[in-house]
Amino acid sequence: MEKRELKLDYWVYTKTYPVEYREICEKAVEATGRSYSIYSGFSVGAAVLLDSGEVFTGANQENVAYPSGLCAERTVLFYVGANRPDVAIKAMAIAACYRGELTADYISPCGACRQVMAEVIKRYGKDFDVILIGNQETILLKASALLPFAFDF
Ligand code: THU
Repeated sequence: MEKRELKLDYWVYTKTYPVEYREICEKAVEATGRSYSIYSGFSVGAAVLLDSGEVFTGANQENVAYPSGLCAERTVLFYVGANRPDVAIKAMAIAACYRGELTADYISPCGACRQVMAEVIKRYGKDFDVILIGNQETILLKASALLPFAFDF
């Protein structure tokens, strides 16, 4: 028997954004305004930077049949997968608003979104940066760090 350990690196930005990702951070915050979240009142925005330099955004879209709704992250990941299938993702920024205010703590993507991110890594054969935005602290980490032991076959 052998014990193994996983190390997870992440970078913390207090009251500021990573300089190279300022644009997608601002666009993720802006995208919360396009959330359709009349059931939860929780507005999530996501912005993706492609290797081509293009930026796309998404926002959570809810449905009266609750499980039919979709998280912000997957709205934009599926959009770019369908519209820019040959271009890899460089980074994704995520922000959330509740009662009109950016959440103090950054939010972290749900398990289903992490699995979709794992598929993006597999599809393009490279990892990408994820920036989780909070009103106090914003963190940057690799998408692969969000789901160690992701399902694959
Ligand atoms: N939501 C997202 O859009 N992204 C996340 O990372 C977590 C949750 C959405 C789903 C639902 O519309 C609302 O936030 C409350 O869970």
